[in-house]
Amino acid sequence: MKKILITGGAGFIGSHVVRRFVNKYPEYQIFNLDALTYAGNLENIKDIEKQPNYTFVKGDIVDEIFINELFSIHNFDGVLHLAAESHVDRSIEDPLAFVKTNVIGTMNLLNAAKNQWKDNFYDKRFYHISTDEVYGSLGVEGLFTETTPYDPNSPYSASKASSDHFVRAYGETYGLPYVLTNCSNNYGSYHFPEKLIPLFINNIINNKPLPVYGDGNYTRDWLFVEDHAIAIDLVFHEGKNHETYNIGGFNEWKNIDLVKLLCQIMDQKLGRPEGSSQSLITYVKDRPGHDLRYAIDATKINKELGWKPSVTFEEGLERTINWYLNNEEWLKNVTSGSYKDYYKKQYS
Ligand code: NAD
Ligand code: TYD
Repeated sequence: MKKILITGGAGFIGSHVVRRFVNKYPEYQIFNLDALTYAGNLENIKDIEKQPNYTFVKGDIVDEIFINELFSIHNFDGVLHLAAESHVDRSIEDPLAFVKTNVIGTMNLLNAAKNQWKDNFYDKRFYHISTDEVYGSLGVEGLFTETTPYDPNSPYSASKASSDHFVRAYGETYGLPYVLTNCSNNYGSYHFPEKLIPLFINNIINNKPLPVYGDGNYTRDWLFVEDHAIAIDLVFHEGKNHETYNIGGFNEWKNIDLVKLLCQIMDQKLGRPEGSSQSLITYVKDRPGHDLRYAIDATKINKELGWKPSVTFEEGLERTINWYLNNEEWLKNVTSGSYKDYYKKQYS
């Protein structure tokens, strides 16, 4: 039985990856390591917590001694590393927290894997999950490819870029068998309501202002989270060692157009008069260093591994909105406590 460590499995994307792996691979023993920060929530994976091939481990990847012990106890065959501080706005407030988790935490995992596997890298794999934000900002044209030079602009993307460099360096220097993916913006269920789509759904439900940064003409490439989990599964099993794959939705939206679409669907779902949600749109001060546009060229993963998004944006958004409307209790739970302080600080 293979032992697979998934980090950050109580977060948004990680919970979808853990669910997929636990259900699809009964022959794997899945260990979900998560510190349960504000973004991590065991409710996100409640449906699989009793499966015999699943173990949850609460712990911090920044704690080197703990990570080394964990590896020596379990001798993992593979690592899927998703644990991270992931929100750009929070990285502007507290960059060091991002260096600790995203850089030092990744280093601890790399060292533990290298030391554990050094005598035999056969059939071992370290999979680092990263973001397209490491490439910086596009102008109105062009797409990010795997060879686009790194040019991060936010403390978040700088910390992710740094961790990507270390992963590649461990591959080149020590021969660590790694794969790395850089993905565009995800959306879907269990997404913490600090990011655009879940934040705005929650605010519409509660008739709160929709804070659009700057003029709203920033562009993101949106991918349904379950399609990202499918891509991660594929790359983990079939990706080539020491290779990077870009993952994207082929689905670019200007923020303001996306927000207007969301408003329209929410009015219909909530039975509110047309235009009610749109009247909540409030243009607010721009995010410092705000990247104008992200867009992924996912040709490589398509050609080499046969992946492409399976869910249209129309269907994905419909499923996402329905999920939030059917899970208002989840939304209420995650927006209590420290969320209120964060919200006040960020938006007042
Ligand atoms: P998230 O913020 O929803 O979840 C992060 C998880 O990591 C949480 O469960 C949290 O408790 C855990 N965590 C944080 N610090 C930790 C630590 N020190 N030790 C152990 N666990 C810790 O993030 P997400 O959106 O699910 O992103 C997952 C990964 O995918 C990240 O590496 C992110 O950079 C990358 N990514 C995200 C997106 C996106 O659109 N969300 C797009 C591309 C790549
Ligand atoms: P976000 O979901 O934070 O993802 P990222 O910054 O990693 O792309 O933001 C998506 C876009 O939405 C980005 O251009 C910033 C913008 N945005 C707002 O206009 N208002 C908000 O309150 C938030 C959170 C984001």
